[in-house]
Amino acid sequence: MSLRVPPPQSLREALKVPDRYMFGPGPSNVPPRILEAGARPVIGHMHPEIFEIMSDIKSGIQYLFQTQNKMTFAVSGTGHSAMECAIFNTVEPGDSVLTAVNGIWGERAAEMAERIGGRVNAIVAPPGGIFTNEDIEKALSKHRPALFFLAHGESSTGVLHPLDGIGQLCHKYNCLFLVDSVASMGGSPLHMDQQEIDILYTGSQKVLNAPPGTAPISFSERACRKISSRKTKPLSFFLDFNWLTNYWGCDDKPTRVYHHTGPVTAFYSLRESLAVLCEEGLEASWERHRTVAEYFHAGLENIGLKLFVKDKQVRLPTVTTIIAPHGYDWKEITSYIMRTHNLEISGGLGPSAGLVLRVGLMGCNSSRTNVDMVLSALTDALQHCHRSKV
Ligand code: GLV
Repeated sequence: MSLRVPPPQSLREALKVPDRYMFGPGPSNVPPRILEAGARPVIGHMHPEIFEIMSDIKSGIQYLFQTQNKMTFAVSGTGHSAMECAIFNTVEPGDSVLTAVNGIWGERAAEMAERIGGRVNAIVAPPGGIFTNEDIEKALSKHRPALFFLAHGESSTGVLHPLDGIGQLCHKYNCLFLVDSVASMGGSPLHMDQQEIDILYTGSQKVLNAPPGTAPISFSERACRKISSRKTKPLSFFLDFNWLTNYWGCDDKPTRVYHHTGPVTAFYSLRESLAVLCEEGLEASWERHRTVAEYFHAGLENIGLKLFVKDKQVRLPTVTTIIAPHGYDWKEITSYIMRTHNLEISGGLGPSAGLVLRVGLMGCNSSRTNVDMVLSALTDALQHCHRSKV
């Protein structure tokens, strides 16, 4: 048979990738040290050396999450795959699930739980808002869920949700506490074991400054008991907890069985990014993100912009939401800044679409120098973008 599809002309050209300031909600810039780690030679996904690297990653995640959980590993995929891994393994058809919706992530968790037959209820706060522990307890007592989902860092609205006492409340009602920390992990204090979180996940591409594509996750003993008492197999083979924990050597079985071909070069980058974080220290990283965010927020107010989250205590230090300036088209501002300053900032997402501009300064990007660069780009955009007379 002859070929009917010729090689595309575009692939004869050299690969072109611009070098940009990645100051949106993620992915963040990847420093050379982490890029170089990912460029090391490929080895087999079942070679003893990769198992060593995976074991280092596991210890790094335990430090990052502040957990002693044995069932700690990284999903081969983005934060969404970890979200599905958490939900698909702990929820069976007919289980009651409660999600806290104050932005897009609670909506996504509800959608995933619904797709696998969960009976989903939500508590809803306006974008930018939070829930009190009383709100949460009322809903737990009413709906008696098997799983409660909350986003620690709501990147769509710029909210850092308080966590204290919620794990304890969930356990009072025999419910697992699932926390999304994709946008907050490493940039804001979180103690998985002490805060009684049962399932916690994050992504590689934000504070960790690794390329997108791996998602650290951890399960408490309580979560493992719920999984081992399942009457049905999880709907996803790829995200099956028992297969994944065996591949990651978490289950103490003498042999690891082939499940999927782990993205080995992505594991190298993730390991390097965890090493960078360990060198700085978690507390130093939290403090740096906090002080840089405060400096940024003060600077925004100085140039006449307003922050979307009014209460300073619950502002996410990693992703800042700015009320879309009155009279301007937010898209013109983001494109002007990309064109003129080679710098990505973004608009809103889900419930905050059209309402805000979002700036992410995460990991190595969280510095006063970068804040000054964003403030001058915004000042320039406000002078040069079209302003309507409304
Ligand atoms: C993705 O995480 C986003 O907040 O845009």
